[in-house]
Amino acid sequence: MAASPPSTRLAREADAADIARVYNEGIADRGATFETEPRAPADIARMLAERGDRFPSIVAERDGRVIAWAGTSPYRSRPAYAGVAEFSVYVAREARGTGAGSAALGALVAACEARGFWKLLSRIFPENAASRAICRKQGFREVGIYARHGRLDGVWKDCVIVERLLGDAR
Ligand SMILES: CC(C)(COP(=O)(O)OP(=O)(O)OC[C@H]1O[C@@H](n2cnc3c(N)ncnc32)[C@H](O)[C@@H]1OP(=O)(O)O)[C@@H](O)C(=O)NCCC(=O)NCCS
Repeated sequence: MAASPPSTRLAREADAADIARVYNEGIADRGATFETEPRAPADIARMLAERGDRFPSIVAERDGRVIAWAGTSPYRSRPAYAGVAEFSVYVAREARGTGAGSAALGALVAACEARGFWKLLSRIFPENAASRAICRKQGFREVGIYARHGRLDGVWKDCVIVERLLGDAR
């Protein structure tokens, strides 16, 4: 039977443990991020507090359980870039491929448009087909590829840059 559509909402501090659980699976899988250290719920709570409402985070839930998380972070401190945010999106292992990533990213785009951001961007490992697919589906374009942008477990990794214009900029 097909999974029911997930619901989405802004994340709050009480979601910190669930977000840590989902994010830590993504870190452990080594397919999405240069991060290698798992996060404690307190780390996530601190991050949510620091970002506040200006840099929104979204959770997706199914049957009352948090199954995905999408969040924003500042791009650069220069005023000229005030409307640009970076984003990331993570889905719990057991829920991948069921629409949760698309739902969380779509809700994040809407939350950022409502806050007046004009651009969202991120970097994706080239082999991360699922991430490239949901970004394409949500209107992101692939700008190019950073060669050897960092090392993960000692191995060079390229990164595909993705961006999406929001609101009037679009
Ligand atoms: C990448 C990720 C966020 C995608 O979210 P998801 O919920 O699994 O994806 P969805 O179910 O919303 O799929 C969206 C689309 O991508 C496609 N897709 C999903 N997985 C795919 C894959 N492995 N290869 C190609 N296309 C894929 C789906 O077919 C779907 O398209 P459709 O609606 O036209 O059929 C999720 O798999 C994940 O958390 N992976 C580990 C962490 C990660 O890579 N995060 C991204 C960091 S940049």
